[in-house]
Amino acid sequence: MKFQISSTKKQDDKAHRIYLTQSKSISKISSLSKAELAYAKKELEGDNDILDLNKLDFRILIVNEKAEKNTEARLENARVAGNKAFGFIKTNKISNFQIIEAGMDTEYAEAFLEGLLLSAYEFKKYFSSKDAAEKSGKISIVGKLNYKAVEQLAQAVYFTRDLVNEPFNKLGVAEFVKQAKAMASASGVKIEAFNKKKIESLKMGGLLAVNQASLNEPAFVVLEYKGAKAKNKKPVIFVGKGVVYDTGGASLKPSNGMETMKCDMAGAAAVVGSIKAIADAKLPVHVIGLIPLTDNAIGNAGIVPGDVITMSNGKTVEVLNTDAEGRLILADALTYAQKLNPEIVIDLATLTGAAVRAIGDVAIAAMEVNAGKHKANLDQASSNTFERLVWFPMWKEYGDMIKSDIADIKNLGGSEAGQITAAKFLEHFTNYPWVHLDIAGPAFLARPSAYRSKGATAVGVRLLFNFVKNL
Ligand code: BES
Ligand code: ZN
Ligand code: ZN
Repeated sequence: MKFQISSTKKQDDKAHRIYLTQSKSISKISSLSKAELAYAKKELEGDNDILDLNKLDFRILIVNEKAEKNTEARLENARVAGNKAFGFIKTNKISNFQIIEAGMDTEYAEAFLEGLLLSAYEFKKYFSSKDAAEKSGKISIVGKLNYKAVEQLAQAVYFTRDLVNEPFNKLGVAEFVKQAKAMASASGVKIEAFNKKKIESLKMGGLLAVNQASLNEPAFVVLEYKGAKAKNKKPVIFVGKGVVYDTGGASLKPSNGMETMKCDMAGAAAVVGSIKAIADAKLPVHVIGLIPLTDNAIGNAGIVPGDVITMSNGKTVEVLNTDAEGRLILADALTYAQKLNPEIVIDLATLTGAAVRAIGDVAIAAMEVNAGKHKANLDQASSNTFERLVWFPMWKEYGDMIKSDIADIKNLGGSEAGQITAAKFLEHFTNYPWVHLDIAGPAFLARPSAYRSKGATAVGVRLLFNFVKNL
């Protein structure tokens, strides 16, 4: 559902309304009778945080701030309450309603609105009937919460989810570039898209090898946003894996589940989306996004297991599995970042099934080298946004597992710790403070989880936005 949001000074006693309150303020909610207030107080004791009053002509929802000391859990409670409220709005086919601040802490209220808006996301554009089309509605806010900031970030999340949910036949490399350019011009971001010729001149052997079987040319997108009075002297760089479809290539994937591999550009989409959020909020920072784009097709012209390729930094790679393509294209992007003298490089990639097996779809598998204070900063952003990180070690023994008999390294580790051996591969192409985020689990969900919709979640967007905001 798409909402138009505005603010108003006065509460409308005839409208559907959501009151945002906390225990000690419930009795101050105007327009409710004494009996109703007493009932609400009783019902909202303990763990219950939402109460629905049916006034026949309209509905009233009272949302009570849950008592919780831990900030991470507290804000997540608020977002989940937003998700429950949206469920209520949907079941009752409500389209226009007011949200009234009535004693709830502002930060909590903003997280509530964020949870509500993120829950309202739908991807329905390919249904042909009008009945199935996305509905729209209006929210009118009474209070001082910064709904515009919340809405702006939600828009960036929607945009990112759309990019990921689009199937490959609708969004290949060319269309991705077009969408990124449209975002860039609307949000005041510089963009350059390198074509195949330029990629060849840069000797990006990883990107070119993965692209070899494709009918479509690769691209390499560079985004740059420099806010006025940028706080960081050296740029913060985001790198996103942009495999617009991953068949596995000659090491073909099993057909079971292959349809989800349109999500293999979720890292790239999160980079575009977070830069949109940062630019729209006009944050005083300097960020650069680097996005290698191609599909991983199957075809006669493709690379085959056993091939040796040369990357843009001159290192040679024995390709033992063409389905381990993400690290090949990221390697060239990470090499490119070396020229830009970064403060920190953070890459996001739907890189390994091993990350999913290790921690499921509830968290990001994170690894770092020399990230220093930025590791703690990311942990803080993670806790603020509930985009959770699990840090894995980068011990040298994992690096030994990608030694090749005939080239500098191979693109396949052993059967274990695959998310780490993939990161050890990437490390060969870095010489700066670096964080690697393997988002294969949380990027694309088989079933919805509260305000994280089924399919694309846009994981990484809120995390990176929050990270940069608190730089
Ligand atoms: N895109 C996949 C990883 C993936 C798996 C993303 C599940 C989203 C959900 C990646 O390119 C891949 O195929 N990785 C292989 C690597 C292996 C051959 C070393 C994997 O993890 O199985
Ligand atoms: Zn693959
Ligand atoms: Zn892949």
